[in-house]
Amino acid sequence: SMGEAIPPSPSPSPEATAGTVQEEQATLPHPKSGQPVKGFTLTAMESNWELASGVTQAVWTYNGTVPGQEIRVTQGDFVRVTLKNELQVPVTIHWHGYPVTAGSDGVPGITQDAVKPGETYTYGFTADVAGTYWYHSHQESSEQVDKGLYGALIVEPEQSEQPDKDYTLILDEWMKEGGDAHGAHGSGSMSDEEMMASMYNIYTVNGKSGSLIKSLEANLGDTVRLRFINAGYRSHGIHIPGEFRVVSTDGQEIAEPAVVKDEIVNIAPGERYDIELKINSPKDYAIEAHDDNKYNDQLVIPVKVSGSKGEEMEVQHDQLTAFDLYNYGKPAESELSKVQKFALEYTAVLNSKMNGNGQVYTINDKVFSELPALQVKTGDYVKLTFENQGTVDHPMHVHGHFFQVLEKNGIKVESAIMKDTVMVKPGDKIVIAFKADNPGNWMIHCHELHHAAGGMAQQLTYT
Ligand code: C2O
Ligand code: CU
Repeated sequence: SMGEAIPPSPSPSPEATAGTVQEEQATLPHPKSGQPVKGFTLTAMESNWELASGVTQAVWTYNGTVPGQEIRVTQGDFVRVTLKNELQVPVTIHWHGYPVTAGSDGVPGITQDAVKPGETYTYGFTADVAGTYWYHSHQESSEQVDKGLYGALIVEPEQSEQPDKDYTLILDEWMKEGGDAHGAHGSGSMSDEEMMASMYNIYTVNGKSGSLIKSLEANLGDTVRLRFINAGYRSHGIHIPGEFRVVSTDGQEIAEPAVVKDEIVNIAPGERYDIELKINSPKDYAIEAHDDNKYNDQLVIPVKVSGSKGEEMEVQHDQLTAFDLYNYGKPAESELSKVQKFALEYTAVLNSKMNGNGQVYTINDKVFSELPALQVKTGDYVKLTFENQGTVDHPMHVHGHFFQVLEKNGIKVESAIMKDTVMVKPGDKIVIAFKADNPGNWMIHCHELHHAAGGMAQQLTYT
């Protein structure tokens, strides 16, 4: 049962399906009487999907599309999602960022058994926290998310002014089958990381690249909400032209977000940024990637403003600055920034090394199967420090809890920024804190999912 310790996984992957915990199904939460219920069925299935003009590939999907069907509900709803598995491999659904109760977290071997081919499994939770979240398989996730098993989970606030337009934009990158990237394999001079980067050569938003990206429509005077979700393994710098505010990150509102202009918002794997654009000139926009590679022209999202006559807003491309989340929003003293004594303080040094299996990604020099679970009690305050001593980015994700970023590289973050995924770049030291308020067994791992599969994961358990 959930109260017992999980035996250490025999494999370095956090996704090994150890033990039989399918009886959790019986203990899933149920709606309260009178609570509105929103029901969905997500069928994991193969599909052929046109990623880019002339490039159609075999993908894995929820309900036949990439991304899978959007789950959009209203705060207070009970959400019931039945997963039907029509693939030849086991799958699950993990609700990334949404603080579900542990039985619905979708981590095989930890909260459930993976759902076998032909089987179904039902997830249930009350959507009481508004915001932008997403869902994805957590079984062999470095492969399954890569193949398309993901979608958006949007919880609309119960009472608040709705934007005029509300668009979900999920970023991802793909490898063209039989494409030029395969030439990189034998070269020997590339690191694993460089090789991986060079293999992704199709960049998509909502499963479409380049000319297949649908333009967004807006009217002069509209407030347009753009919900960016990064479902891929590379960070994407997205240039937002004109005036905008970043109103939330990882589903959590930012207090008093100021208007910024013409900035690049860097979105790490797993992160979300909600942007509110005020359409105050009758010109079209081009929201485009400013990544450090040759594929930027594949990621251009046109915003067509009615009455624009096709005129596009001008941008000084050489003067663009990067949006700085940690110096944004109103300085605030939160419960977490006032904590005097943390029940657990833990430093996770992130790195990689070679062992008998090739390259592994480590926390304190160990891989998942060698790392003890972090132990907490309900009500504990927990402080984690992520220190990246390696050479590649590690966007670190904590399941089941929102955390506050307290410090970045020795500098206190004055605004109480709440997140579930935080980018830790080489050399960075990031301090986060959360309250242990969601009993269960949870994962902490890098969201470059190859790194998680390669060992960079640790469990958090309640005693
Ligand atoms: Cu989105 Cu354990 O991950
Ligand atoms: Cu990583």
